Amino acid sequence: TTAHLTIDPHFVVGPINRRLFGSFVEHLGRCVYDGIYEPDHPDADEHGFRNDVAELVRELGVTTIRYPGGNFVSGYRWEDGVGPVDQRPRRLDLAWHSTETNEVGLDEFARWLRKVDGELMYAVNLGTRGVQEALDVLEYANHRSGTELSDRRIANGTAEPYDIRMWCLGNEMDGPWQLGHGTPEEYGQLAVKTARAMRQVDPTLELVVCGSSGAGMPLFGTWERIVLEETYDEVDYISCHAYYEPVGGDYESFLASAVDMDRFIDSVVATADHVKAVRGSKKTINISFDEWNVWYQSRYAEVDRITDVNDWPVAPRLLEDAYSVVDAVVFGNLLISLIRHADRVTAASLAQLVNVIAPIMTEPGGGAWRQTTFFPFAVTSRLARGCTLELKLDCPTYRTERYGEVPVVDAVATHDPTTGDTAVFLVNRSLTDVVDISIDTSILGDVSVESIVSLHDDDIHAANTRDQSERVGLKPNDSARFVDSELHISLPPVSWTALQLR
Ligand code: AHR
Repeated sequence: TTAHLTIDPHFVVGPINRRLFGSFVEHLGRCVYDGIYEPDHPDADEHGFRNDVAELVRELGVTTIRYPGGNFVSGYRWEDGVGPVDQRPRRLDLAWHSTETNEVGLDEFARWLRKVDGELMYAVNLGTRGVQEALDVLEYANHRSGTELSDRRIANGTAEPYDIRMWCLGNEMDGPWQLGHGTPEEYGQLAVKTARAMRQVDPTLELVVCGSSGAGMPLFGTWERIVLEETYDEVDYISCHAYYEPVGGDYESFLASAVDMDRFIDSVVATADHVKAVRGSKKTINISFDEWNVWYQSRYAEVDRITDVNDWPVAPRLLEDAYSVVDAVVFGNLLISLIRHADRVTAASLAQLVNVIAPIMTEPGGGAWRQTTFFPFAVTSRLARGCTLELKLDCPTYRTERYGEVPVVDAVATHDPTTGDTAVFLVNRSLTDVVDISIDTSILGDVSVESIVSLHDDDIHAANTRDQSERVGLKPNDSARFVDSELHISLPPVSWTALQLR
């Protein structure tokens, strides 16, 4: 099979916001406790955070980190997590049927973020709470001093305000599983009141209103329209969430998951722009794709989920998916979709970061390792700089059960005008065929291949586990060769490839 790609740095889709490489830490399972935080671990720092995990987080290249949930946030009282640790209450976490010890809260998490160089994106509880509690946590976090709440932060050890820029107005309020879930009108009215109040404190905050928790939700499209009709003037982003898994062994469709993500983004953009048109507004609402990943959600429902009324464990093993090669190829393709839409998707969060549907896994008292999905994320975050380019891609298609005819190859290219570097990210979705792709680089001038790596394996189900933590990794792709100004590369079946031209 052959394919052809033309790259031209004059055709720009939009600048790539570094916030596209965000992630997400929720008080869920072992993401916080026994994940980023394990005071008894031999490699823990004086605050209880694991150095080995922090090092992997830095290597992953994540930027903004969403916190503290997720479904968790819709029952969370932020003030439980500040002040003397030994006086903090233990609470029921209804979202994950667990006990929350509150050993880690806003101040500890912000301290950890400084260690990993991350930006805090904070979600407020609009499930069981409302305007006042959102104002309180805003004042605690961002107000300099001289009020009860800002002085409490200072007394708790943080003199400088956190200056949190991005705030999520609740989480997945369209989902019946969400504490406080209601109609789009109800949520939209609460979100706009909260947004207005928060803007009375600081009009420059960047506010994210909840879109649908998935494109398959019954109100998808309607939810976005009504919520934006209520909130348009007061918010900056609408959120998208999407998770993918193979259904009934249909890997052809699974490998085309990014087609669904593309359509999802296009639909939300169209809906936001419809509301803009009806209102005659000059303002544009962008997307915060603040939960995305491969997630074996059916396994959670069938195996992991805790329901016994007497069972409320602390930091249980939940959502600990072990990602395979094929999962990582789909995952790399989802990143391609996000970057392709850089003009409208200006923030994104990989859900999640450690142990819970995560690129990084840990064992209590033991090691930390990279899942297969770690590699496409780290390389894309490092190489996708500058702006996204429009591409001309010619390739065959194949038929899928879920998404109809889809291209065998997907690709996105980025170009950094300051360094002159160009990066191309490619996926071969074929389960059987090598694709020989030729890339016309003539307009880039005299470039050479700075690096080219692929993620693939003869066993597409191979994964990294505690006992075989380095089974899967990136391989140099040594097929690349120039014929005049055409670069020829072989893409193995079920593979993800990153090419850097300089
Ligand atoms: O990321 C896991 C969960 O998925 C989040 O808590 C929730 O927002 C979503 O349904």
